[in-house]
Amino acid sequence: MTEGCGAISRRDVLKTSAAGAAIAGSLGPGGMAMAQAGANAPPHMPVRMEVNGKPVSLDLDTRTTLLDALREHLKFTGTKKGCDHGQCGACTVIVNGRRINSCLTLAVMHEGDTVTTIEGLGTPDNLHPMQAAFVAHDGYQCGYCTPGQICSAVSVLEEIRAGIPSHVTQDIGKAPAMTTTEMRERMSGNICRCGAYSNIAEAMADVAGVKAEGVKA
Ligand code: FES
Ligand code: FES
Repeated sequence: MTEGCGAISRRDVLKTSAAGAAIAGSLGPGGMAMAQAGANAPPHMPVRMEVNGKPVSLDLDTRTTLLDALREHLKFTGTKKGCDHGQCGACTVIVNGRRINSCLTLAVMHEGDTVTTIEGLGTPDNLHPMQAAFVAHDGYQCGYCTPGQICSAVSVLEEIRAGIPSHVTQDIGKAPAMTTTEMRERMSGNICRCGAYSNIAEAMADVAGVKAEGVKA
């Protein structure tokens, strides 16, 4: 390599090497390890959301799921982690009015979104009608799936009222009927190991103001 020939000269290389050696010397072995760790640190990003009516601002590892952001960073531990793979529904929350599995979405994808967890639906002194109905109809046993069930149940009634068809809607050209058949189909992504399904269906029918047909064996 000749001096001044091309984009990088021999002198530039020597200067860079000397500067690197000087930095390495000043950092020492521990400093070098830290610098290495910093270079390998996962990227972080800021994210702002509204959670249960309050603005929140976080700086997160971009791999953080919405579920972990809610539970580990914001301490809304009402939302449960069951499978962490989108199979059980325990992590269901309501985002911008629609239910989602919070384990299947990254928190940084929700900049500006409005998130409601079970803590945002009601309080022990002022239960949401769906929470009160679950209590009245024994819609739970161990309760682990219950926050997800209730968030889903609230959204399911909204989906039916909004005319969104499901797999069991007889005529997708017409608004779906508010029936327990529709409710059960739409709740099929929320698994209950305790098997409280009939009671959940009764609670939902109660809130919807319809008869819970065929829910008891
Ligand atoms: S924890 Fe999200 S679906 Fe099971
Ligand atoms: S109440 Fe126990 S898993 Fe549903």
